[in-house]
Amino acid sequence: MPHRHSADEPAEDLNVNPLFARPGEARSRPRFRLGEQPMLPETAYQLVHDEAMLDGNARLNLATFVGTWMDDEAKRLYAETFDKNMIDKDEYPSTAAIEERCWRITADLWHAPDPAASIGCSTVGSSEACMLGGLALKRRWQEARRAQGKSADRPNLVMSSAVQVVWEKFCNYWEVEPRFVPISEQHKTLDGFNLRAYVDDGTIGVVSILGVTYTGMYEPVAQLNAALDEIQRETGLDIPIHVDGASGGMVAPFLQPDLAWDFRVPRVVSINTSGHKYGLVYPGMGWVVWRSRDLLPDSLVFKVSYLGGDMPTFALNFSRPGAQVLLQYFQFLRLGREGYREVQQASQDVAKFLAERIGTIDAFELWNDASDIPVFAWRQASGHTENWTLYDLSDRLRQKGWLVPAYPMPDDLADMTVQRIVVRNGLSMDLARALLKDIEESVHYLDRFAQPLPGEARSGFHH
Ligand SMILES: Cc1ncc(COP(=O)(O)O)c(C=O)c1O
Repeated sequence: MPHRHSADEPAEDLNVNPLFARPGEARSRPRFRLGEQPMLPETAYQLVHDEAMLDGNARLNLATFVGTWMDDEAKRLYAETFDKNMIDKDEYPSTAAIEERCWRITADLWHAPDPAASIGCSTVGSSEACMLGGLALKRRWQEARRAQGKSADRPNLVMSSAVQVVWEKFCNYWEVEPRFVPISEQHKTLDGFNLRAYVDDGTIGVVSILGVTYTGMYEPVAQLNAALDEIQRETGLDIPIHVDGASGGMVAPFLQPDLAWDFRVPRVVSINTSGHKYGLVYPGMGWVVWRSRDLLPDSLVFKVSYLGGDMPTFALNFSRPGAQVLLQYFQFLRLGREGYREVQQASQDVAKFLAERIGTIDAFELWNDASDIPVFAWRQASGHTENWTLYDLSDRLRQKGWLVPAYPMPDDLADMTVQRIVVRNGLSMDLARALLKDIEESVHYLDRFAQPLPGEARSGFHH
């Protein structure tokens, strides 16, 4: 991307503090050009380290879903394996074998009827995994249409207006028409209501989100399945479901084991999750699994060399780190089902505590209560005040170190602003109490304003 100078970014060279520079080393470096001479590693380390120090404190970031804490042993493993390239299956056959073990573990967790007959792969995150799931839907639809001698030019994908931005990207990059079903006060998620109006013979699939990014709510996958059964009875259209379980895919198996959202639901052909969210791995880890091999068209699969033979791969990248896959396996071994259940339950206990207490503050009204994933959102109670908004509260909390985003809801509810908390492993009950105190004090402070605070233009929200 072209770099634009912003007013707050200094244009001059980087200064090297005299304490850091070694004798003979230059005391400044160009900021936007490669310097002519090398630098000692300790000096370079100090410069980068100091600049990165200005980033926020990840543990106080309640906006992100992405893992910010792992055991020291995981860190050791990471440091030992960060040179492994996932694509070099021949050079790193053990990492390749562990990758397969991991997606088979997820296939089993998600009740694939025969995990050994399913197929899956690791990715950089859910975004890549969603792209692969979407591409398989598109290619299967195209191949079926062509086999029937019909045009395959105008595919569409049906989803809630509250999908994560990756699905808009998918439709844009791969020329699929996005069909957004708006959410509303009555239909807070894609629940099958009025679905018939959105699907036709160009529909490659419906996306169902397990853990809507805006609010953390689960979409009722089985109910969607029933609505599609009804549509099939009426029209003959047989439409598959891809579940975007970016966060819920690693929560529901442990906290809601009886909820049928996965391959127990017959139309679910593929599922993705982010290993780096509730999979509890550092950033750079996603998974996608298809119920059975026939659902991933051969025409999308490439072969790489592996132990003197060929191994099928399906990925957008070629080279990418293999260490995260090993970290995922570390967590699977370390935690097992019971360990994951305990960690996710601890996060949910904190989230429910916060939701309940925030729900009792006069200024607020809960949108949901963290009973799905440990995430919840609230809005301002109508009539409470015109003098401040949730954006002001967000700014105020930021001054205290907390990142608690406020943002507009998607289409049809875009006039509504909500604020959201994502509770991840590492937000202890103690920290939650400190946060609650800061929220209560901030509301008290803001409520003292007798006139509206000046507003600023707000950008959209893409977490
Ligand atoms: C529902 C959903 N899908 C996809 C994504 C993208 O995931 P990733 O950040 O792992 O690429 C997110 C991220 O928040 C999400 O919430």
